[in-house]
Amino acid sequence: MDLTVLQSRFERRHPRSKSFYEKALLSTPGGVHGNLRHYPPFPLTFEKAQGAYLTDADGHVYVDYFLSYGALILGHGDPAVRMAVQEVWEQQGTSSFGAPHPLELEMVDTLKSLLPSLESVRFTNSGLEATLLSVRLALAYTGRTHLAKFEGHYHGSHDHVLISIHPAEAPHEARRPAPKAASFGLPDYFTDHTIVLPYHDWDACEDILNQHKTEIGAVIMEPMMAGFVPADPGMVKRLREWTSQHGVLLIFDEVKTGFRVSLGGAQEYYGVKPDLTTLGKVVGGGFPIGVVGGRRDILDLCSPLRSGQPLFHSGTFNGNPVSLAAGLATLRQLRQPGFFDNMVKSAMKLRDAIESLSQAYNAGWSTLGVGTIFNLVDTATDPQGTAKTARRLALDYLLMEQGVFSKPLNRFSMASVHGPQEIDQTISAFERAFAELTGRHLRS
Ligand SMILES: Cc1ncc(COP(=O)(O)O)c(C=O)c1O
Repeated sequence: MDLTVLQSRFERRHPRSKSFYEKALLSTPGGVHGNLRHYPPFPLTFEKAQGAYLTDADGHVYVDYFLSYGALILGHGDPAVRMAVQEVWEQQGTSSFGAPHPLELEMVDTLKSLLPSLESVRFTNSGLEATLLSVRLALAYTGRTHLAKFEGHYHGSHDHVLISIHPAEAPHEARRPAPKAASFGLPDYFTDHTIVLPYHDWDACEDILNQHKTEIGAVIMEPMMAGFVPADPGMVKRLREWTSQHGVLLIFDEVKTGFRVSLGGAQEYYGVKPDLTTLGKVVGGGFPIGVVGGRRDILDLCSPLRSGQPLFHSGTFNGNPVSLAAGLATLRQLRQPGFFDNMVKSAMKLRDAIESLSQAYNAGWSTLGVGTIFNLVDTATDPQGTAKTARRLALDYLLMEQGVFSKPLNRFSMASVHGPQEIDQTISAFERAFAELTGRHLRS
């Protein structure tokens, strides 16, 4: 299907979004407040949302699978989250103390019960800040200079991890990936002090790690690349063994997978205990947050009670009561019996339907993921579903026309508000999109 045709249809359907974009371009680089927010020909402007639905500036309504990068696991405007936020105002009278308050203890206890590897916890304001603190802690704790990370894994937009964030196009050929700066302006220090590991090849990883074992302080990984490409469980276990054996810390960046792959995150799914864990997105219930948790002896480095100089960590809004109240209201619901499992069932129902339709239309798509996150996979050319192809973009334009939004080229995140009606609506949207893409019409 010709992309230019679909893009001009998109432009015609979205004159107000286009006009907002053109105005934004005059005073904001690329018209967006984050590079990942751009997609061609311009990103949609949204004006409203409710439950599972988003409404754009031109009045089109979408079932939302983007959910603010997966953060809104209960959908938009969940009543319990709204009430919790309201209570913060009514009972505390402020949105921020910048000082200790009781919700901090409640959230720490909740996190410790869901993720037992979290002996000690610090709050930050974003996933970026969480991974930054985790790397600083790990390098300080080990006294080593290098960070190992996996090719294709994203850990937020700070210098030490903005390296080799794009997956290898031919994973089997990338046995020794060279560190590639993913940003203009990154000091050479960071590429010089980063070891890049191939995600799908443990033997190659082990060779590389062995070569650098005295320099590497930590291995950081997304336990599922891009949130939906699982690692080989055997590889994760061997990585845990290797890191323990060589005094290297293992950091699980669970900003995407936390509370989504399973309630206890990917560490519960694999049965592996990392030294440090970073969280974000879901844990803030739709408000900004990040969390670093893990071994007490490592976290204690940033205690102001430490004798000698502590490792520095601070932030005006760390532990913000609004984020913690919203996050606690979210986690309380996720923990209700059957609640999480129902979301996983809905995800499976949707994935099965997409795969059956794709087979019926010979459209060439399958799905990949665990729990409440999945992505579409181009069966013939891209078995790990990370390639940004014109074929996928075409499907995304058609899905948007049919009222389904995941953000072009992005994964699908489920929310509890995706009920039978929303799932059926999405399945029909896929059917119409596959029919148009393949030129086959199986239903009259
Ligand atoms: C695995 C992972 N780590 C870190 C981050 C950065 O989080 P934030 O966007 O909150 O800074 C993200 C964001 O998508 C992420 O997916």
